[in-house]
Amino acid sequence: MFEVIVTNKQPLTASVCRLQLAAVDGSALPAWQAGAHIDVHLPNGIIRQYSLCGGVDTKHYEIAILNEPNSRGGSKYIHDQLQQGDVLTISAPKNLFPLVQGTHKTLLIAAGIGITPMLAMAEQLHAEDTPFELHYCAREQQHAAYYDRISNSDYARNCHFHFSLGNSQNRLNPYRLLADYNQDTQLYICGPNLFIQDVISAAEQHGWPTENIHREFFAAEAIDHSQDQRFEVVINSTGQVLQVAEDVSILNVLEDNGMFIPVACEEGVCGTCLTGLLEGEADHKDVFLSADEKQKMNQITPCCSRAKSKRLVLDL
Ligand code: FES
Repeated sequence: MFEVIVTNKQPLTASVCRLQLAAVDGSALPAWQAGAHIDVHLPNGIIRQYSLCGGVDTKHYEIAILNEPNSRGGSKYIHDQLQQGDVLTISAPKNLFPLVQGTHKTLLIAAGIGITPMLAMAEQLHAEDTPFELHYCAREQQHAAYYDRISNSDYARNCHFHFSLGNSQNRLNPYRLLADYNQDTQLYICGPNLFIQDVISAAEQHGWPTENIHREFFAAEAIDHSQDQRFEVVINSTGQVLQVAEDVSILNVLEDNGMFIPVACEEGVCGTCLTGLLEGEADHKDVFLSADEKQKMNQITPCCSRAKSKRLVLDL
C-alpha cells in the first residue's frame, strides 16, 4: 500500500465524480492493465474498490465514483468530504477482470458506473488494434459518465449508446445482441447485479460457453442471513476446530482466533478473502465466484459465505 494525493476532483455527471491520483512524491505509479482496480482506504476507515479507467499513465491513476443513494459511507465520503490535495492510502492495482489475450473479437457491455473498467478495456483494445464493440447503457446522455470522451474518441464508431429514458426502442436487448456473436468472441459485462444477470442469462440461452463470459459486480445485493445456522470450521494446517455461531461470519471467527486473511469489501464482491475449501459444502453468498466456480466447492469467501454442511475444512 502507498499514499497518493488527489490532484484533481471534478464532476462527470450529477452523480459521478472523477478523481485523479498521483504519488505523493511525484514518482511513477505501478503499471496496470485494463480491468484492474485499486483498493482505496478512506480516512473514515472504509475500504472500497474502484476500477482504474482512462489511459494507462504511470504518473496518474483515474477513478470515477458513483454517489450511491444507499452509500454505507464510501462514496458519500468521497463526494461530500474528499478534497483536491487530500492524501489517500491505496493498494497497488489488482486485476480480477483481465482481458483474454489473443482474442478474435471482444464485446463489452456496460451499464451505469460499470463503464469504468470498460473504458480502459476499449482504450486498450483500440491501441492493440483488436476488434471490439462497446455497448453502454444509461438512463439518458446526461447520466452517462465519459459520454463525451467516448463519443469524441478515435474508436467512437465501435461504440453504441443505449439511453432508455423515454425511448424503449433504444434499450439494450441482450438476447438479440448476443444471438449475433459466435463463440470466438469474449464477452465482458459490468454494471448493476440484475443487469449482469440478465446479460449472462441471454448469453447462456444462446449457448455461450461460461469461459467466454466475464463479469465484474460493483455492489452486493443485501445478503439474506435469516436462515443462517451454526457450523464449525477446521483449519487444515493445525486441525484446530472453530465454532461459527449463527450471527457471526467465518472471517470474524478466524480473526478472533488470531488468523488474519486479506479482506477489502467484506460483502462478497471483490474476492480478496477467497480461501481454499478442502471439505464440506459451502453456502455461497458472494457474487464474486461464478456459478461454475461455486459448484466446484473448492473455494469460499469467508467474509459472507457460510456452510450447508455441519463442517468446512479450510485450506489455511
Ligand atoms: S472481502 Fe471482498 S469478497 Fe470477501
